[in-house]
Amino acid sequence: MIGDVFIGQTRKLGAPIIGDNVGFGAGAKVIGPVRTGSNVRIGANAVVTKDIEDNVKIASVSAKVIGRLY
Ligand SMILES: CC(C)(COP(=O)(O)OP(=O)(O)OC[C@H]1O[C@@H](n2cnc3c(N)ncnc32)[C@H](O)[C@@H]1OP(=O)(O)O)[C@@H](O)C(=O)NCCC(=O)NCCS
Repeated sequence: MIGDVFIGQTRKLGAPIIGDNVGFGAGAKVIGPVRTGSNVRIGANAVVTKDIEDNVKIASVSAKVIGRLY
């Protein structure tokens, strides 16, 4: 695990569950009640908010509107 990796909760209950042999790039974040598979590489600066299957490399942040302020 490299620097500035965050694995933690959001307002939703439940912490991430990390599989075996999961590698985290710099700045990767895994947030909320998600589950990563095993043998996974999470790319630098990826933000994971959905489950990840086994045996994959994932990357990127998909920014989107998540709610309204007013
Ligand atoms: C995710 C990762 C493991 C993929 O490595 P790879 O299999 O060699 O991937 P490639 O470099 O061939 O890239 C494949 C595609 O994914 C994209 N990509 C790779 N890493 C990405 C990342 N972190 N975020 C967004 N896109 C990424 C590339 O731009 C490329 O896109 P394209 O097909 O449109 O050209 C790697 O890029 C990574 O992020 N490693 C962590 C590095 C790190 O944090 N090192 C810390 C010091 S050791």
